[in-house]
Amino acid sequence: MLRILSSLVLLGALAYACQRDWDALHRRMHQHRAHNRHAKRAEVEYPPTLTETESILVNSFDNKSISDWSYYYTHGDHLGSHNKTMAEWTAQKWRDAGFDAWLEEFPIWVTYPEHSSLTLYRPDGTTHEANLVEEVLSEDDTSSYPNVIPAFHAMSASGNVTAEYVYVGRGTRADFQVLKDAGIELEGKIAMANYGAIYRGTKVKNAQDNGMAGCIIFTDPLDDGEVTEENGYDAYPDGPARNPSSIQRGSVRFSSLYSGDPTTVGWASSWDSPRGNVSVYNPSIPSIPLSMKDALPLLSALEGNGVSAKEANRSGWTGAFSNMTYDSGPTSGAVVHMNHLMKGWIAPVWDVIGVINGTSPDEVVVVGNHRDAWVIGGAADPNSGSAILIELAGAFGKLLQKGWKPKRTIVLGSWDAEEFGLQGSTEWVESHLPWLTSTAVAYLNIDIGVSGPRTAFSGSGEIQTFVIEQMKKILFPEGWGDFPTLYDMWYNVTEGEVSPLGSGSDYASFYQNGIGCIDIGSDGGETDPIYHYHSNYDSYNWMSKFGDPGFRLHAAMGQFLSLILYHIADDPLIPWDMPHAASVLESYLSELNDTVAESDFPDLDLTPLASAISNFTAQAEHVAQVAEQALAFNDTVMLGVVNSKYRDFSRGFASAGGLPGRETFRNVISAPGIDNGYGADVFPAVTDSINAGNEGPAGEWVEKSARAVLRAAEILKVGS
Ligand SMILES: *[C@@H]1O[C@H](CO)[C@@H](O)[C@H](O)[C@H]1NC(C)=O
Ligand SMILES: *[C@@H]1O[C@H](CO)[C@@H](O)[C@H](O)[C@H]1NC(C)=O
Ligand SMILES: *[C@@H]1O[C@H](CO)[C@@H](O)[C@H](O)[C@H]1NC(C)=O
Ligand SMILES: *[C@@H]1O[C@H](CO)[C@@H](O)[C@H](O)[C@H]1NC(C)=O
Ligand SMILES: *[C@@H]1O[C@H](CO)[C@@H](O)[C@H](O)[C@H]1NC(C)=O
Ligand SMILES: *[C@@H]1O[C@H](CO)[C@@H](O)[C@H](O)[C@H]1NC(C)=O
Ligand SMILES: *[C@@H]1O[C@H](CO)[C@@H](O)[C@H](O)[C@H]1NC(C)=O
Ligand SMILES: *[C@@H]1O[C@H](CO)[C@@H](O)[C@H](O)[C@H]1NC(C)=O
Ligand SMILES: *[C@@H]1O[C@H](CO)[C@@H](O)[C@H](O)[C@H]1NC(C)=O
Ligand SMILES: *[C@@H]1O[C@H](CO)[C@@H](O)[C@H](O)[C@H]1NC(C)=O
Ligand SMILES: *[C@@H]1O[C@H](CO)[C@@H](O)[C@H](O)[C@H]1NC(C)=O
Ligand SMILES: [Zn+2]
Repeated sequence: MLRILSSLVLLGALAYACQRDWDALHRRMHQHRAHNRHAKRAEVEYPPTLTETESILVNSFDNKSISDWSYYYTHGDHLGSHNKTMAEWTAQKWRDAGFDAWLEEFPIWVTYPEHSSLTLYRPDGTTHEANLVEEVLSEDDTSSYPNVIPAFHAMSASGNVTAEYVYVGRGTRADFQVLKDAGIELEGKIAMANYGAIYRGTKVKNAQDNGMAGCIIFTDPLDDGEVTEENGYDAYPDGPARNPSSIQRGSVRFSSLYSGDPTTVGWASSWDSPRGNVSVYNPSIPSIPLSMKDALPLLSALEGNGVSAKEANRSGWTGAFSNMTYDSGPTSGAVVHMNHLMKGWIAPVWDVIGVINGTSPDEVVVVGNHRDAWVIGGAADPNSGSAILIELAGAFGKLLQKGWKPKRTIVLGSWDAEEFGLQGSTEWVESHLPWLTSTAVAYLNIDIGVSGPRTAFSGSGEIQTFVIEQMKKILFPEGWGDFPTLYDMWYNVTEGEVSPLGSGSDYASFYQNGIGCIDIGSDGGETDPIYHYHSNYDSYNWMSKFGDPGFRLHAAMGQFLSLILYHIADDPLIPWDMPHAASVLESYLSELNDTVAESDFPDLDLTPLASAISNFTAQAEHVAQVAEQALAFNDTVMLGVVNSKYRDFSRGFASAGGLPGRETFRNVISAPGIDNGYGADVFPAVTDSINAGNEGPAGEWVEKSARAVLRAAEILKVGS
């Protein structure tokens, strides 16, 4: 059982690319696994047989050049809006490969700390000044750059607060409730939460909603599983355990409410755009991230006071420092002074767009990765993906040199400012929406391409089967166990499970406008080297010594993405599995059914949705038969008809208007959980309404979601 649980944890870590939140993933994987599962482990032909074109693509990947691209990306400040040169360099690399490439500029709201300090005053009069910076390591060249990015929370508010503080566990709503039930006064105090389980911005929001004056979020070794110093592993740079000074940066925007520039939610940002007030979308209290080293004195000063960890009895409350009790406090006279001054202004960011025109220009496949990183390095997040995209452009360049032209137009996107809140991709989608809506066949995302060896992906139902088939064609590099192909590793990690899409990375705006998406990547598991997420140690040195020595995982992920892109762009029939898409909807319905059964409204009638899904299933099966025949008889007219249906049907899922309270989230099939922020809820408008205690709207959204599914079914319908 333990084994299975830990492998599920591995899977989840990727599914929500920009995080590593074991607890939530645990739960979520459990939830989804019963439902959407590619049941049996398939036999894999070994060695795989590739077509000539597939071989050209796959053989084009060179670990040496990937390492060079990685080195370039990880040796200069490239926080969102900071590095136009890097955007131009990327465009030039794509041009060298044969793509048309240019920059698109968007002015967005950015934030940066002007001053940050945090001091603990103990009851005995002694003080401790938190470091708020990571140690310089002689082994890791970029840790000593003079322009290292400070550890801060993007979109945080300013504040100068002196107050008692309370440990709140993971900082979920239920955690705060435990404290309130125990009579602990929260108002005006500072919350101290550990990272994990839910999105960091939700922790800040929960603190704010409880009247608290500030929020500290720290890293606890609890999130590091087996690989901790207490378990005898050396810390980075000497070994695979976490360096105790590492700090997780990150945005604290209210991510389940919007994506993109918070001053232009719902429209594209340009220099003369009208702009709204950011205050509804971002916290009003200051927050600061802390290393585990800096957290210890604060935790220690709470010992023996408030609610004990045992009384709290909450998941993730007791951390992994065996010498800490994790009592809530407050401790009378133990006070934190937090002085945090943030600046905000409008600054330009630069997306890079690269294009190969197809022979059918009304069908377009978009592949994207963000380029901006939280730190000078960013070797995993996101530049493992960026290095892979350059090598992928080169692989397609080899085909172009042979006179090849894809059937469908290929668009590469190198997005800026993902880390502040998916700004680069969202503004691009918003500024090209009519064109994307009429032409986009799919969006393929790679964010953290490699932060460990465990492969996983999440995505739309129709694309899954085909993506799994491509994994069987990729040899898995030696050194991470006995996994001959990528498929073998993937199956080992996921047992065939594919999770739905939330909003952890740049696919969000595409998906929320009804474009089918997948998100691929690989992460570390319980016994792999600790990936220092959003920390200075997500560096080239870490990657080349611990994450992917030899850059062969990078090559494998790139080969995988190339085959996916090649087939979607060039196959006579877009390779969707529509009956599988239908069965994924069935599985989400059964998940919703479970949610309803456990809710306050167990009698909520789901029949409209069930019947819409059966209608969709019938159309899916029918169109699949038509497609098979069209292919068998090379009936190009019918293939064209089916392809346009495969391209368009998922727009139906986004046809019911904005989800309650979040206008720019429109996909009725899945969206980030309101209270979780990263992970996805299925049939989110219904789930949200149930969770908010609104039975009327829940019923209305069953109807509206059903109509959206019927709209998709109607688009799929072929003649009579
Ligand atoms: C931009 O990134 C490149 C490559 O990492 C680096 O050489 C350059 O110094 C960076 N530019 C700035 C302004 O930091
Ligand atoms: C912050 O608050 C402290 C006392 O609470 C005060 O001494 C200090 O001047 C304030 N700093 C700023 C920049 O307002
Ligand atoms: C934005 O809204 C907040 C809260 O309502 C208000 O205090 C602030 O002045 C507004 N800012 C602008 C620029 O309108
Ligand atoms: C702790 O919580 C679990 C589940 O939430 C419950 O089953 C258990 O009885 C609780 N233990 C105590 C001591 O309250
Ligand atoms: C608790 O353990 C950590 C790590 O093992 C150590 O760094 C710290 O000094 C200890 N703290 C106390 C108060 O003993
Ligand atoms: C690609 O197609 C677009 C739109 O039709 C056109 O403007 C552009 O010039 C074409 N690019 C190339 C390199 O042919
Ligand atoms: C995954 O691999 C481990 C180690 O090789 C093995 O013990 C386990 O059974 C595998 N799990 C699956 C689901 O194949
Ligand atoms: C590329 O992989 C080979 C082994 O296949 C290895 O010897 C070499 O060091 C790797 N190159 C880089 C730059 O890591
Ligand atoms: C929904 O759950 C109920 C029990 O709560 C069960 O009887 C019914 O079969 C389920 N329906 C679906 C479609 O899963
Ligand atoms: C379901 O699909 C059929 C066509 O196969 C259509 O005639 C019928 O109206 C659809 N049902 C609903 C409720 O739209
Ligand atoms: C299918 O038909 C098209 C156009 O008629 C032709 O170019 C193509 O070679 C045919 N494909 C096969 C596999 O026969
Ligand atoms: Zn990322």
